[in-house]
Amino acid sequence: PTKRKNLNNLIHETLSPEIITLLQEVGELADEIGFKAFAVGGFVRDLLLKTANLDLDIVVEGNGIAFAKKVAEHFKGKFFPHEKFLTATVTLPNDFKIDIATARLEYYESPAAMPMIQLSSIKLDLSRRDFSINAMALQINREQFGTLIDYFNSQSDLRNQVIRVLHNLSFVEDPSRIFRAIRFEKRMNFHIGPHTKGLIGNAVAMNLFGKSRDSRFLSELKIIFKEKDPLGPLVRLAEFGLFQYLWPDLRPNYRTDRRFCHGIRQTKAAIKKLYEIEPKAKIDKSVAFLLTIFHRSGPEEIQAFCNRFNEEEKICKKLLQTKQRCDALLPILYTPMAKSELHQHLQDLNYEDLLYICSVAKKSHIHKSVLDYLCQLRHIKPLLKGKDLMEMGYPRGPKFSEILNSLKRAKMDGLVSSRADEEELLQKNFPLSNLHC
Ligand code: CTP
Repeated sequence: PTKRKNLNNLIHETLSPEIITLLQEVGELADEIGFKAFAVGGFVRDLLLKTANLDLDIVVEGNGIAFAKKVAEHFKGKFFPHEKFLTATVTLPNDFKIDIATARLEYYESPAAMPMIQLSSIKLDLSRRDFSINAMALQINREQFGTLIDYFNSQSDLRNQVIRVLHNLSFVEDPSRIFRAIRFEKRMNFHIGPHTKGLIGNAVAMNLFGKSRDSRFLSELKIIFKEKDPLGPLVRLAEFGLFQYLWPDLRPNYRTDRRFCHGIRQTKAAIKKLYEIEPKAKIDKSVAFLLTIFHRSGPEEIQAFCNRFNEEEKICKKLLQTKQRCDALLPILYTPMAKSELHQHLQDLNYEDLLYICSVAKKSHIHKSVLDYLCQLRHIKPLLKGKDLMEMGYPRGPKFSEILNSLKRAKMDGLVSSRADEEELLQKNFPLSNLHC
């Protein structure tokens, strides 16, 4: 039996006025062309959990692409259709994104293949979704605004905090859902229901993963790396026997061992620290975590992983280069050195390189060195500028930057602190008389 109830109160308690107005306007646009329109998926799940979710997925009974075009025109936004899937993304002028889909019945050519699509209604659309908690719809047409549609007892699963598939072939159709089950379980502190757990076991035993080069596994794994605490879901993946497929060379440690967990914790701590120092740092967290996981692997294993999951060429190259560069640098960093030398070694590294070094280094002084570099060394500049050198009579030319660099190094090493110190050092190391002749 369908459970319908009106969520208007909850909507007003939970969502921002801007989102409510947006939903209402989109609903009215659907009324204009006689389509039923629904917010679906994680948005509805999180509304019922009273958690903010800024990913708005809309499904219409009608042509989703034509509707998305209308929405984009109305809001003066941008419109990106995906003809093959009958979906479109609309980006509003304030960058808010709405994904619009056509209520659909998905056919799968073979297990783990990409879906073929045919038109259908909201019930069929919802019944094809991953878990009951993600299979509710909220109608947004004016007359029915706020009506929750729940065909699959989703509200009761949400109350009981259960992750449950809607049919037995769910993981056969899309094995990447196993990653999703684990992610939702850990993120929301839910549990995977016993039947669903059994189906995961069957899917793993059927080796559904080994047969496919599905990039969805990697996308889902990357979302796990972005979770607040990726270790929980990673341990769970190992418990379900999925490590042997993801990282076959971690053998014989198919399960997560102490070293694995330590590496992940170190990476997490290093990312946190980096954000404290540089709140706007652009960090590719999946590169950082993958490098830690691949710490003991060779380039062939990294390449094989990238091939298996269709990783972008650019990222694959980054993984290989970072690892090679930093593995060569690590033994050097273990030996004591002047700060200027440390700066020299670290100055061309990117954030993922530095995170990798911190995650795998065994000595805490390396962490301190990287911190010192990030907080201080990379910002140090001599007091004397090029302009001052010119005034002092130094001729412009290639020597100029060498002189400034040597002042910078001296400052890092504490050999100079005042302007007078710097001038004295110049006279000693770069006497003007030498330069002119
Ligand atoms: N979905 C699915 N099977 C998948 C991926 C997605 O059935 N393999 C459906 C689910 O109904 C999901 C919706 O598509 O709710 C949107 O997917 P996505 O944005 O990936 O998930 P959310 O549930 O919104 O999760 P999150 O909160 O992590 O964004």
